[in-house]
Amino acid sequence: MDCVLGSKLYLGDESVDLIITDPPYNLGFAGTNMTKDKKPRFNIIANDKLSIRDYRRFTLEWLREAFRVLKPGRHIYVFIDWRQYPLLFRLMEYVGFSIKNCIVWDKKNFGMGWQYRYQHEFVIFAVKRAKKVRRVGSRSTSDILRVPRISGNKTIHPTEKPNDVILPMIINSSEEQELVVDFFVGSGPVPEISLSNNREFIGFEIDSNYYTTALDRCGKNQEGKV
Ligand SMILES: C[S@@+](CC[C@H](N)C(=O)[O-])C[C@H]1O[C@@H](n2cnc3c(N)ncnc32)[C@H](O)[C@@H]1O
Repeated sequence: MDCVLGSKLYLGDESVDLIITDPPYNLGFAGTNMTKDKKPRFNIIANDKLSIRDYRRFTLEWLREAFRVLKPGRHIYVFIDWRQYPLLFRLMEYVGFSIKNCIVWDKKNFGMGWQYRYQHEFVIFAVKRAKKVRRVGSRSTSDILRVPRISGNKTIHPTEKPNDVILPMIINSSEEQELVVDFFVGSGPVPEISLSNNREFIGFEIDSNYYTTALDRCGKNQEGKV
């Protein structure tokens, strides 16, 4: 379901230990991979082709919810690319998050384009400030994550994130049994890595095909139960 509606229905104030999420970047993207008959393999992602005003409103709405549900002192990671980074940065600060860093996902090999072909995405790393700072994880991860992208013909979602990009975020920002939330689940790397590392997980996905893909990936039935 829609993440804002879902969050209002299912998530209490300051009940979430960690948010890792990858919203639509508003690029009207359906992946770069084509079928044999030269048709795009995927449909355009929901909410990925909004007017500037509607995208701002959409972003503000889900960020406000994210801020409401996160416990003080806990982290949020938001994937974004260079085009929407300024907007996301500003709105995250506006709703109350303190930005701690910009993590760079280096995909190790380049994608589309001509000069300076795309090889990276950003992840805004922020905290909901609290009086007491909680430290989990280790000091051994830098802010550049070098993980190859999933090759085009193996992807099950047009903007799929590899598990190895998600894993350090889980390890560095949560402990076992804690609740991880993803507002935009897609094909489900965040639930897969959360559950396989003994975290609780709640997520929202508006596209029924990706919802089913994510459930299958985590070995769940249609109601999301084991
Ligand atoms: C950038 S993709 C996430 C991809 C995911 N990280 C992966 O690795 O597969 C964003 C996802 O959010 C979903 N989405 C868009 N608007 C939504 C909304 N309002 N509520 C819940 N999901 C939404 C889209 O269907 C899409 O699957």
